[in-house]
Amino acid sequence: MKLSSKIALLAGLSSVLSAGAALFVGRAVLVESLLASHFIAEKDMLNSVADRLSAAAESGRRGARAGAARFAADGKPKRPRQTPSAKKSGGYAELDVLPMWRDVKPHIRGKDIFAVDTDGRLVAHDDEARVAAASDFSGLEAVSEGALRRRRSDEALITLDEKARKSVAVWADGPADIVIFSLTPYEDVMRPLAKMTAKAGAWAALIAAIFAAAGIFFARRITTPLERLRAAAIEVSRGKLDFDGLEIPSADEEVASLAKDFAAMTEALKKLMGLRDDLVHMIVHDLKSPLSAIVSSIEFLNSDAQSAGNDKQLKFLRLARSSSKNLMRLIEDMLDVAKLEHGKLRPVLSDVSVKSLLETSMRDFEAQASAEKKILSLRCPDGLRAICDEALMRRVVSNLLSNAMKHTKTDTGAIEVEAKSDGISWTLTVSDNGMGVPEEYLSKIFDKFVQVEGRRFQIRSGAGLGLTFSKLAAEAHGGEISVASQEGKGSSFSVKLPFSAVQL
Ligand SMILES: Nc1ncnc2c1ncn2[C@@H]1O[C@H](COP(=O)(O)OP(=O)(O)OP(=O)(O)O)[C@@H](O)[C@H]1O
Ligand SMILES: [Mg+2]
Repeated sequence: MKLSSKIALLAGLSSVLSAGAALFVGRAVLVESLLASHFIAEKDMLNSVADRLSAAAESGRRGARAGAARFAADGKPKRPRQTPSAKKSGGYAELDVLPMWRDVKPHIRGKDIFAVDTDGRLVAHDDEARVAAASDFSGLEAVSEGALRRRRSDEALITLDEKARKSVAVWADGPADIVIFSLTPYEDVMRPLAKMTAKAGAWAALIAAIFAAAGIFFARRITTPLERLRAAAIEVSRGKLDFDGLEIPSADEEVASLAKDFAAMTEALKKLMGLRDDLVHMIVHDLKSPLSAIVSSIEFLNSDAQSAGNDKQLKFLRLARSSSKNLMRLIEDMLDVAKLEHGKLRPVLSDVSVKSLLETSMRDFEAQASAEKKILSLRCPDGLRAICDEALMRRVVSNLLSNAMKHTKTDTGAIEVEAKSDGISWTLTVSDNGMGVPEEYLSKIFDKFVQVEGRRFQIRSGAGLGLTFSKLAAEAHGGEISVASQEGKGSSFSVKLPFSAVQL
């Protein structure tokens, strides 16, 4: 996974997690506060109901005795109650709860409120039939624990209602030991929470998206220069030190300083390579004169040995001659490549018949081709002419042909040289059915000293300069060289040149 995606994912994830945690904590706080506010509102309402009941009771009839609620012969709940005034006189009031209830009903705002006596029996409710049946509520936790034992009376009780639904119970003390309580479905109390959770969820998602987007933004800010730095490092690792793109701006100090250090390192490497090239060039150049003397001495000794008929000497001289020739070729190639690189070898242009240029170059390989039973063919329009440096182009064709010969098999090798034009430029192609170039080498073989021969050392020869020379020569003409190759099937090298090469 890319670094930028990782950072964006992390930013999104951490914001989702923190939003989730906030939501979790917020939810718990909200539940508490909803219960508390339900308790306050409900308690308020129940207290006012209780007050009204007390007032109604005060205005009730005086009796002689106080005691528990009882149901009179008419089935209506009556409440013998010792009112403060009755207490003084030792009397009691028998209260008829239902009419009192009807008095307070308009104030209970459609709530399901119950009034129970000390046994937990219903003494007042909207449903008068249930009251008449003296329904027993003592089994409800809200009544047994909450209302009658008065536990946790300073907060709402989460419990089950008659139908075993989760509910919230709140109670208040009425007159004459009557307890009034309400049971509200839990989900009704929590209704605002669902809405708030949905809203908070939407906000959390929005915030997570914003954080993820910010994460992507900052991650890109870091990784874009890093990716450019990586691309630059790849170029440098391929030995390409002269390219645009070493200036990598970054708003982040660390990345900017890394890019700066990388540019400085590349610059130092470039200087070092320059020094190396200069040194090699100097050595190679200085080798040329003594080597020329050696070559002419060998030629002299050779003719001497020939006239003396000394076969042994002739054998060693032949070896010395071919080795010094190879060395001379290497030195010349190195010097020419250096000259082309520094623009010191400029094409000497003339109007050339492409066909005769190709035929002359091919002639040098005919003997070898027939000895190795390889087919060498040419396809070129007779009248094709171009302005180019004939000697340089001949060396390019020779390089391509020598490579093709080297990498095709005896007996089955087939090499075709073709030239054609599209009116603006002409292209010369040397194709073969040889072993081809492995894909990973395709972009490297034009670099100096690069050879695939590590793998094919049975044919190791040359210095790996032929294609470099050919590339530089094509470029000196304002053209380019390219390769198409498939390992095991063959290669095709094309040099595309403008018709009239400009003197660069
Ligand atoms: N026609 C081809 N088929 C297969 N591989 C090739 C072909 N032409 C070039 N190559 C690969 O490209 C490498 C570079 O070629 P180049 O001509 O630069 O060097 P060389 O032939 O090894 O040495 P030099 O040309 O200096 O004598 C070769 O070593 C070879 O591995
Ligand atoms: Mg070569």
